[in-house]
Amino acid sequence: MQRFKPAQFIFTLFAFLMAFSVHAQKLPNVTILATGGTIAGTGASSTTTVGYTAATVGVQQLINAVPELSKIATVTGEQVFQIASESMTNDHWLTLGKRVNTLLAQPNVDGIVITHGTDTLEETAYFLNLVVKSRKPVVLVGAMRPGTALSADGPINLYNAVLIAGSQEAIGKGVLVALGDQIHGARDVTKTNTSTPDSFKTPELGMLGYIQGPKAHFYHTSTRKHTVDTEFDISNLSVLPQVDIVYGYANMNPVALNAFIAAGAKGIVHAGTGDGSLAAKVKPDLIAARKNGTVIVRASRVGNGILARNGEANDDELDFVVADTLNPQKARILLMLGMTKTTNTKELQRMFYMY
Ligand code: SIN
Repeated sequence: MQRFKPAQFIFTLFAFLMAFSVHAQKLPNVTILATGGTIAGTGASSTTTVGYTAATVGVQQLINAVPELSKIATVTGEQVFQIASESMTNDHWLTLGKRVNTLLAQPNVDGIVITHGTDTLEETAYFLNLVVKSRKPVVLVGAMRPGTALSADGPINLYNAVLIAGSQEAIGKGVLVALGDQIHGARDVTKTNTSTPDSFKTPELGMLGYIQGPKAHFYHTSTRKHTVDTEFDISNLSVLPQVDIVYGYANMNPVALNAFIAAGAKGIVHAGTGDGSLAAKVKPDLIAARKNGTVIVRASRVGNGILARNGEANDDELDFVVADTLNPQKARILLMLGMTKTTNTKELQRMFYMY
C-alpha cells in the first residue's frame, strides 16, 4: 500500500486548482440579448414547422436548453423585447443599439449575442453595424424552426453564435450573423427562403466564414466601414427620420409614393425594377418630391448588383442618390442614419459608397 505523502498531495491539489482557475478565467463573458422570433417560438407538435407562435420562450429557457454553452462562455441573459421581428420598429432599434453600446463599454463583457426573428434580422444587424461603437463581437442569431420542432436549428445556432461572440477572431469584423454553421456580414446577408433552414445567404458577395471544430473560421471580411469607423452616433437620438420604401412593378402608379410623402416621409427608397428603373407614371412625382425636399434613393428590387449612378436615370441632374449594392430595406436604414447628419445629397451619396 502506498504511503500518504502530504507534500505530493498539496502539490497535486495546487496544480489542479491552478489549471481549473486558468481554464475558468479563459472563458469569455458573453451577454445574450433576447428579442423574440422563431428561435423563441413554440409549435403545436414536433412536426409544426410553419404556423407556430414566435416569441413565447424567455431568454433563460433558451440558455438552459443549451447546457454546452457553459463550456465555451460565461453567459448571462437579458430579455430586451419579446416580439416577432416583423414588428420591429426604429424605436426598438434605438433601444437595442444603446443597450449594446452600454454593455460593450463594460470591461466584463467580451461579446454580445442577439437572438432575433429571422424576418428582419438582416435589418437589425445592418443598423447595429452602423451604430455600435465597439470592436467587440456582436452576433445576431435566429432560427427557421421553433424549439419544439424536429431538428430545431435554434440550439446549434445559439451555440455557434456564443462561440463566435467569445472568439478573438470575430473582434473588429463588424456585426455578424450566425445561422446554419455559417458566418455572414451584416451589410450583405439576406433571408432568401420563406421557410427552409438554409435561408440565410450572402449571394454573390459571399459569406465570411464557417463554424467548425468548434471554432470560428473566417475567410473574408467586409471592405465597407462599420461600427467604430462610422460617423453615426445614436446616444442622444430618440427618433429617426421617416423613410419609406416604394416598390416597383409593372403597371406601377404613384399612389403609395405620394401617400408616404403626405404622411411625412423625409426620404423615399425607390425599389425599382432592374437597375432601379423609374416607371413613366411615377418619375414625374419622384422629381416633384425631390424638388419639394424629399430625398430620393434609387435602389433595386432585383437583389444583386451595383445600382449604376446616372444609368437608368440622370441622378446628377435629378439630384437623386443611388443605393450601390444595398437592398432596399438596408438602403432605408442607411438613409435614416445619414439624414440624422445631413440632407445634402452629395454627402448622402458618399455614405452609400462608404458603408
Ligand atoms: C420572426 O421574424 O420573428 C418570425 C420568423 C422567424 O423568426 O423565423
